[in-house]
Amino acid sequence: MKILSFETSCDETAVAVTEDGRRVLSDAVASQVPVHALYGGVVPEIASRAHTEAITALTARALSDARCARSDIDAVAVTYAPGLIGALLVGVSFAKSMALALGVPLIPVHHIRGHIAANYLAFPELEPPFLSLAVSGGNTLLVDVRDYTRMTVLGSTRDDAAGECFDKAARVLGLPYPGGKPIEELARGSSGGVYKLPAAHVDGAPLDMSFSGLKTAVVNLAHHAEQTGEPLDRAALARDFIAAVSQTLVPRAMEAARRSGRRTLCAAGGVAANAFIRRDLLEACDRAGIRLYLPPLSLCGDNAAMIGAQAYYEYLAGHTADMRLNAYATRDIAADPPEKSVDKPERL
Ligand code: KG4
Repeated sequence: MKILSFETSCDETAVAVTEDGRRVLSDAVASQVPVHALYGGVVPEIASRAHTEAITALTARALSDARCARSDIDAVAVTYAPGLIGALLVGVSFAKSMALALGVPLIPVHHIRGHIAANYLAFPELEPPFLSLAVSGGNTLLVDVRDYTRMTVLGSTRDDAAGECFDKAARVLGLPYPGGKPIEELARGSSGGVYKLPAAHVDGAPLDMSFSGLKTAVVNLAHHAEQTGEPLDRAALARDFIAAVSQTLVPRAMEAARRSGRRTLCAAGGVAANAFIRRDLLEACDRAGIRLYLPPLSLCGDNAAMIGAQAYYEYLAGHTADMRLNAYATRDIAADPPEKSVDKPERL
């Protein structure tokens, strides 16, 4: 089954063709990062406009890279939540018109389900059940993936997402947006152990996380140095910051495995590209005898192939939508996709 999929939830316009949820035939991405970098973060209105400008040509490219005619496409999939609402609406509207024009089913996909499904593309043998640590720019979740479309959230951040925290810390350290990779590069210049940063615990919810205190601590250290003229060891602060994020994520993932009895853990999302966090996860999983899947860096960030991967399994579960499909800025990963009443587009 060939699925044409769209991802426009934030600052990458992405279109892909995948086959049977496991094979990538094409994966076209138009990044808007250089535009948003001018402002130090994503400007939602600019993101929506840039998606609108890019999506038609990118669709033609994805089809031609996959050597597919439109008539070869069996279904259309799209990220319908969560994300920037204007940005999501561009993808949802475009995907609806594509499904209608081609006369094929429309499959709505939750963005974080897509991030998790990136692992299916990289690891053909991987099947649920497993645990996933999904860490991106807008979400930080520990998910029990019971089967391809049934998930339970075991823990989540109570405030900022880890990626958001990386971006903010990078900004006060004078690094460009998005900050994850530049902080990692800066951190390579130090072995850390200089700054004591807070590690928050949520009373009564040992698998939940909090990153706002850590973010504020880094901001305060940078501002204090700026105001007093005291030297700031930026590389050490970057290294200690990453260690603090890792010390929040990794023990909770291990505790989730212990509580749930799952022996397989899949990382997902942009922050899962971080080399220090990957190393800590590997060491912890080795010690605990847990099988760890780390997607290649190319599949950690936003892309549409991951949406096509999850879409295949949503389709098999009967999760299709009609022309009433809407976009949602927030949506629980455990909830079924909405508007699953028909599997053929309505006639206007
Ligand atoms: O998954 P993603 O591409 O988009 C969302 O779905 O949000 O994640 C983007 C986030 C950004 O906050 C970015 O700074 C972070 O992932 N990121 C990293 C790294 N590469 C990207 N964070 C830490 N280390 C990295 N190497």
